[in-house]
Amino acid sequence: MSASAGPTNRLDGQVAVVTGASSGIGEGLARMVAGRGAAVALAARRGTDLQRVAGELDSLGAKTLVVPTDVERDEDLDALLARVRAELGPVDILVNAAGVAIFQRVHELEAASLDLQLRVNLRAPALLCAAVLPEMRERGHGFVVNIASEAGAVIHPGTGGYTISKHGLCALTALIAEENQELGIKAWAICPGMVDTPMSAGAPESARRRFLRVADVVDVVEGLLLQGANVKMGPEVVIRTMANPWS
Ligand SMILES: NC(=O)c1ccc[n+]([C@@H]2O[C@H](COP(=O)([O-])OP(=O)(O)OC[C@H]3O[C@@H](n4cnc5c(N)ncnc54)[C@H](OP(=O)(O)O)[C@@H]3O)[C@@H](O)[C@H]2O)c1
Repeated sequence: MSASAGPTNRLDGQVAVVTGASSGIGEGLARMVAGRGAAVALAARRGTDLQRVAGELDSLGAKTLVVPTDVERDEDLDALLARVRAELGPVDILVNAAGVAIFQRVHELEAASLDLQLRVNLRAPALLCAAVLPEMRERGHGFVVNIASEAGAVIHPGTGGYTISKHGLCALTALIAEENQELGIKAWAICPGMVDTPMSAGAPESARRRFLRVADVVDVVEGLLLQGANVKMGPEVVIRTMANPWS
């Protein structure tokens, strides 16, 4: 579809792919784009959770496609995009929300945890972006939403491989934005502070009360997707909490 000149409140006719759609922020974003009229492919490893989300969206009239996917596996990424193209059409909106967090100081880094975070948080988004950008460029339209982290925009000691991977994801997103903005393609690295999701479930209740909610992140992304075609924001979009959760 072609980009419109002014803002619209719908994503009708667009095709979205959301990784990490089985839980937390990815699930919230999948619900939002479906609610705005996009057909949405739901990707993550836990097929039963993807089916749960798809079932609820289907009952509201949305068009969904469940594709169990381990983003660490190149063959899964290829299969995901092949099914989306065959069953929904070319990708208009790519949301990379799948992520893992292992907090270590640099002198504690281990190969296994570093590799895992680089594969899931950076390599998989880069490969998916590389795969969908040619068709977005050809069609002169596309949105890339990479869920980074505040840890991708600033340095928090003790966050090791996570911070390295999320800074890389912000750099990837900035490259995409710069290389494709003349063609009508927008890319954002969403950088939230702590968000109340299963990933942060181990934090004390006193801190979690001050965390962002999934809806806070979803609302920001929704605004970005629906803004006028001439508006440029980001590519880094930092969403902080009003009060320090840890104080
Ligand atoms: N929670 C926070 O405080 C916070 C703050 C800033 C940024 N973020 C970022 O937000 C994103 C979503 O995290 P969340 O907070 O919503 O946590 P979450 O509820 O734990 O979601 C993580 C998602 O990543 C998916 N995932 C993990 N490894 C995967 C793999 N190998 N293949 C496919 N999917 C995989 C999980 O699905 P399966 O287990 O089903 O595969 C799940 O859907 C992450 O990128 C995270 O870094 C989180």
